[in-house]
Amino acid sequence: MDDRVTIPGLLKLKEKKEKIVCLTAYDWPTALLLDRAGIELVLVGDSVGNNMLGYSSTIPVTMDEMIHHTKAVRRGVERALLVGDMPFMSYQASTEEAIRNAGRFIKEGGTEAVKLEGGEEIADLIDILVRRGLPVMGHLGLLPQRTSQVGGYRVQGRDEISARKMLREAKILEEAGVFSLVLEMVPWPLAKLISESLKIPTIGIGAGPYCDGQILVITDVVGLSFRVSPKFAKRYLNLGEQIEQSVKAYLTEVKSLAFPTVEQHSFSMDEEVLKKLPSPHPSP
Ligand code: KIV
Repeated sequence: MDDRVTIPGLLKLKEKKEKIVCLTAYDWPTALLLDRAGIELVLVGDSVGNNMLGYSSTIPVTMDEMIHHTKAVRRGVERALLVGDMPFMSYQASTEEAIRNAGRFIKEGGTEAVKLEGGEEIADLIDILVRRGLPVMGHLGLLPQRTSQVGGYRVQGRDEISARKMLREAKILEEAGVFSLVLEMVPWPLAKLISESLKIPTIGIGAGPYCDGQILVITDVVGLSFRVSPKFAKRYLNLGEQIEQSVKAYLTEVKSLAFPTVEQHSFSMDEEVLKKLPSPHPSP
């Protein structure tokens, strides 16, 4: 039976009050494992910039880099819904460019949908994309592509004016056709209110337990983040430490001649063939 996750399937999960579980992925092996584990949505986030490519933010990430990583993730994801994150300046300059770039995610990257950061100001664009058959996930609250405008990674929507604005923009985005909405670093009571006010599912990251689903950055979950992990993230594994330990063990074994062994990790050859080869120390 085809149990692939679909956009209507996500809406059904919200109706059933079953939480939607999402993670980011940036490469084939991780994508394979996430899909095998059974999560519903995989996002190729532009957070690939700070988590995989060593940039200090998501700003330098290009469309070509996103497509490269998206294609790798696509090869690993069979069941989950795959979403590509539109990087900074891939949808801001013009509608034509935005359509072309969203199309690249779906056509070249093989995603089912794209994600765009922003509120009311991109509602018309979202409407155009959705009408042209390019499904869109919205993103409100802390927008990592705009942290310089708000003074860094700060909780958004704490005062009445900004909370009302976020609630209004969430409804506008729903009206424009987003199939789901990421809420990042939003106080939980506001995220709850937004989630209860929309038919589409909200996916929280640092937005409390009352969103319809949750998303985290995979490197935060498995302990591969080398920058300060945000307060809202939870580490389930210390993969970074485990990798370092295993590399140290390998280093020690190679230096001490414990690895590789002739018996276990090497290939033999016919003695007669060997005899016919020139000696490394020919007699004078
Ligand atoms: O790029 C990303 O990882 C994201 C998530 C934080 C939702 O946008």
